Amino acid sequence: MTKQKVFSEKQLPQNIQSYLEEHVDLKVWDKSTQMPRELLLKEIKDVQGLITTGSAINEELLQQAPELKAVSTISVGYNHFDTEAMRKYKVIGTHTPYVLDDTVADLVMALMLSAARRIPELDAMTKRGEWKKGDDNPRFGVDVHHKKLGIIGMGRIGETIAKRGKNGFDMEVSYFNRSRKPEVEEKLHIEYKSKDDLLSESDFIVLMVPLSPETKHFIGEKEFKQMKNSAIFINASRGQTVDEQAMIEALQKGEILAAGLDVFEQEPVEPTNPLLTMKNVVTLPHIGSATAETRNAMAMLAAKNLVAALTGKGTYYSV
Ligand code: DGY
Repeated sequence: MTKQKVFSEKQLPQNIQSYLEEHVDLKVWDKSTQMPRELLLKEIKDVQGLITTGSAINEELLQQAPELKAVSTISVGYNHFDTEAMRKYKVIGTHTPYVLDDTVADLVMALMLSAARRIPELDAMTKRGEWKKGDDNPRFGVDVHHKKLGIIGMGRIGETIAKRGKNGFDMEVSYFNRSRKPEVEEKLHIEYKSKDDLLSESDFIVLMVPLSPETKHFIGEKEFKQMKNSAIFINASRGQTVDEQAMIEALQKGEILAAGLDVFEQEPVEPTNPLLTMKNVVTLPHIGSATAETRNAMAMLAAKNLVAALTGKGTYYSV
């Protein structure tokens, strides 16, 4: 039987490539740079499967890929999928939940600690040789332990962050979520709060909602004004869940103390973005899941998802 054709717009580790080659006729974009859209549209003309990381899977692409049966993204977020259009064209979408929860939660803790203890700012200062004898600047940060942590979005990653806050840092953890999760409250000893109460009472606010039309600018001017002036805001979800201009103003006016950001409204972030010059903002280039182990696990899961979706054998995580 002839193998189904799959195109991967992302280079894959050798073991994952070999796995795919056993099951499908694989072609891979052979550069480590982002594949230009017009080339992608050419490559997918006769394929049944596509492996992607963030390309828009929309009507434009689907029209050009009459044989496409499944698209597998190496990410848990799938806001780049137009799920309605995919349903219309009968294309299955798959993603990679679970395998990245701990890694993203670790990064959220790193952002909290870095912003609270001013790690990047003081690291840069030390490396510039500005720590001089007789210098008695205390360079105070703020404590993380025993503080109030408010998590917005209690999905799998939210839960994993709650565990770290509770068990690792003795924090008082509360959450806001579309729907209440009594079993999680009981298991982790965390409290449900309204969005307003969580925003006005938390010392650390972590945003962990998936991006959708409902969550675009979920945190904006009103929400920043509700936060304590001492609050530290962390976003490791998607940049567009926050009104970035409102966040810049809140930081400039001292309405919140600091922010830790792994994501931006526009990525890569514009070099002129004011957030990049603020000492009280820790910035990262969207690396929430970026450890070798986790990215490999995600790529393997994406490969298995795709093979299962194409062959109808085995299970896959559909979006
Ligand atoms: C994810 O998996 O969604 C991460 O944010 C990487 O895009």
